[in-house]
Amino acid sequence: SVHPLQDKLRRPIHDLRISVTDRCNFRCSYCMPKEVFGDDYAFLPASQLLTFEEIHRLTGLFVSLGVSKIRLTGGEPLMRQNLPALVSGIRSICGVEDIGLTTNGVLLGRYAVPLYEAGLRRLNVSLDALEPELFGRMNGRGYKPDAILQHIDHAVNTGFEVKVNMVVQRGVNESEIVPMASYFKDRNITLRFIEFMDAGNDNGWSYNKVVTKREILERLQSSFELEAQDHNYFGEVAKRYRYKGSSTEVGFITSVSESFCSSCTRARLSSDGKLFTCLFASSGFDLKAMIRSGASDQSLLAAIQNVWEQRSDRYSDERTEQTVKNRTKIGMSYIGG
Ligand code: GTP
Ligand code: 5AD
Ligand code: SF4
Ligand code: SF4
Repeated sequence: SVHPLQDKLRRPIHDLRISVTDRCNFRCSYCMPKEVFGDDYAFLPASQLLTFEEIHRLTGLFVSLGVSKIRLTGGEPLMRQNLPALVSGIRSICGVEDIGLTTNGVLLGRYAVPLYEAGLRRLNVSLDALEPELFGRMNGRGYKPDAILQHIDHAVNTGFEVKVNMVVQRGVNESEIVPMASYFKDRNITLRFIEFMDAGNDNGWSYNKVVTKREILERLQSSFELEAQDHNYFGEVAKRYRYKGSSTEVGFITSVSESFCSSCTRARLSSDGKLFTCLFASSGFDLKAMIRSGASDQSLLAAIQNVWEQRSDRYSDERTEQTVKNRTKIGMSYIGG
């Protein structure tokens, strides 16, 4: 179209976060608590997942509406069979300038090289602690950090740009802030501290469990000298700092203390083909139903355009004790963060 697509708050559409599966090999309490995601939990059946062809087709349509940045998420995206094939398909779409993957890193030993060969260059690895017992408890499955740390080194040696995401929760892993910073500083890997969010409906969130950017920064400044960096681009999620005298950065994702909805250019596609315009939305638009009933590209484009033009989400700007309690939100593991 001639006029760039904008939502009701004049935000363009730049990023598409694609969830490729709702399954995960971890049970992080803040995302897939064991009590909810137990042995008999009904994950999506394979027939309900978008096929790679369907994802490829939809991605092409989003790109023609202004998307240039793609992120693959889950659940745990590496649990989806044959993911490198999806990556090379998406890479071949003209207009895709950036593609990243967010993973817990467990399966990276097996997939780092095939993903690199498929053209992926950026990995965000989630890791909440270095202390083995604490990490095992946080991921709900007793996985130790050693293998993941080795996979991170392996990915760096393969040529990836790797960032590490640490969700900080008061009373759980605050003690890991400085050790994590120190470990990744030594390796010249960007660590991002993520404020604990009230994602989904049963993740035990409360304001007093949020450790804010300000508090984390104060803790870091007792050990390191840090300099604030300018934003790289409009809509960048992380606030960036650099260790003085080095090229290594740390970031803060301040969804709670300094929300960033006014520049939110992200659309989200769930693994069963629904389009969501906010991480905290309660429902999505069913693109899969349209595709599977034979919709043309033109009608799919019109539908996506219409959803974006109606968009007015700014959940994190509006968050209060009331919205936290009263809104039914989609699950974090379902939409992929
Ligand atoms: P980069 O392209 O590497 O900057 O990726 P990213 O930081 O956007 O993606 P990643 O999957 O690593 O997400 C990091 C954290 O930011 C996660 O906790 C996400 O849930 C959170 N996040 C990403 N986008 C949004 C958003 O639009 N709103 C909110 N509230 N949180 C977001
Ligand atoms: N608050 C903040 N970040 C979260 N993530 C998952 N659940 C939450 C939450 N409740 C993070 C994961 C991963 C990214 C996709 O989102 O740790 O790094
Ligand atoms: Fe899995 Fe990531 Fe959710 Fe943890 S945060 S349960 S690793 S999807
Ligand atoms: Fe975007 Fe919703 Fe996150 Fe705000 S809360 S930044 S609108 S996804």
